[in-house]
Amino acid sequence: MGTEAEVSIHQSKYKVVAQAIETLIIEQKLQPGDKVHSIRKLSADYGVAKNTVIHALHLLESKSLIEARPKSGFVVKPSQVSTPPTVPIFDDIKPSKVAIPDLLQNVMLRGAAFDITPTAQTEPVHSLMSKLHRNINKNMRTQAAKKVMYYDEPQGNRLLREQLALHYRYLGVDAEANQMTVTGGCQHALFLALMATCNPGDNVIIESPGFYGVIQLLDQLGLHAIEVPSHSQAGLNVEVLQKTLTQFSVSACVVSPAYATPSGASMSDEDKELLVALANRYNFALIEDDIYGDLGFRQRPKPLKSFDSEDRVILCSSFSKSLSRDLRIGWVIGGQWQERINRLKLVSHLACNQSVQLALFQFMQEGDFKRYLRHIRSTLETQRNQLVHALHKYWEGKVKFAVPDGGLSMWVELPSSVDTLTLYNKALANNIVITPGVLFSVERDFSNFMRLSYCHPTTGQREQAIKKLRALIYS
Ligand SMILES: Cc1ncc(COP(=O)(O)O)c(C=O)c1O
Repeated sequence: MGTEAEVSIHQSKYKVVAQAIETLIIEQKLQPGDKVHSIRKLSADYGVAKNTVIHALHLLESKSLIEARPKSGFVVKPSQVSTPPTVPIFDDIKPSKVAIPDLLQNVMLRGAAFDITPTAQTEPVHSLMSKLHRNINKNMRTQAAKKVMYYDEPQGNRLLREQLALHYRYLGVDAEANQMTVTGGCQHALFLALMATCNPGDNVIIESPGFYGVIQLLDQLGLHAIEVPSHSQAGLNVEVLQKTLTQFSVSACVVSPAYATPSGASMSDEDKELLVALANRYNFALIEDDIYGDLGFRQRPKPLKSFDSEDRVILCSSFSKSLSRDLRIGWVIGGQWQERINRLKLVSHLACNQSVQLALFQFMQEGDFKRYLRHIRSTLETQRNQLVHALHKYWEGKVKFAVPDGGLSMWVELPSSVDTLTLYNKALANNIVITPGVLFSVERDFSNFMRLSYCHPTTGQREQAIKKLRALIYS
């Protein structure tokens, strides 16, 4: 870690202003032809000097996003406007047995890396992350003598749980430290939640398209999937769910209400309320995957758990997307099933790493987690914009995609003649990794879709990969 370059949190003011205007353009709040506010107004709005605004406008001009027009000031340049992907309509919703073909296991493993060019250079390590790593190492050394022969408390480090409880309290989730369990990541949390609430052969509602890690769990636990369509912007279709619940009994529903993968969709608070009401009425567990919740660019969506009135929402999450996948620390707020989840944690994992948990407690307590979240949200927003630019620049309207305002992934629809599993193999031969649509459903046909991630910058080798992919599609 010591040899890696470090980046600090500081960002020039003009870049912050440029990014804010760029985001308005990418999210189509400023349309082609619209006038950008005057320098005086922008200077007042952002509380910066006029020169800073001028610098920002020139940056946007150099990116071909705006142009100067005589007497009008700056206007947004014409660009291709992104069209959201087709909304799935399923007319024969029913439970299906899950069996993932071996062929797809390998694709899932690669796709999990979220990197279109795994051979490309990685970004410098942020100074706060280096601090976290140093603290983990320090804890390993100082804890070694006294703790190495003991497992941690199975429920997880109390100090860390207290910090997590505080984090959620600000979001309207009323959970104490003893109402949660620390896990070996979010996948482990989802596993515990499904184990605690379902028996083999039970029906589980999942979103379609939805996270393939959940599909893998259903497969291994002998559970049946009922796929309910997920809209690329509004998420789980609660109306369709309501009809489905009149036909089949279900034990649980797994849902990702904030910046879901692959769609990037977020549910409205009204839909979350409706979903909780349905769970109460039809008596099933709601398993909330909140792993992307902290990655909203402008707001932190309220967790589904904050609407919970009968303690039937089980919130699962981890530090994997906000900090690092390598920490392998997640958590589950278990609601009515907390005791059972504690027991299952013990038998499936015994305990989590004490030094890592302690360092994470320190990171949260000292405010570093909040500071790092501010940094990562703004970085991801820039990277999201880069990916949108690259898709417009190289694919010239051939694809449909929605522009998420948080999370890590974008769901891209290609022309119906394209099979993204075939494309996956062609791309792999060119050291490019895409995540084909077929992974995100048990039964539905998303064969002309793929997930792309903005977890890394779309510059250099990665930008070239986007360009190359287009050539491979039409080769
Ligand atoms: C939606 C979602 N849930 C859970 C996970 C698993 O997370 P973890 O690495 O914390 O086990 C992932 C990982 O990609 C994910 O995208």
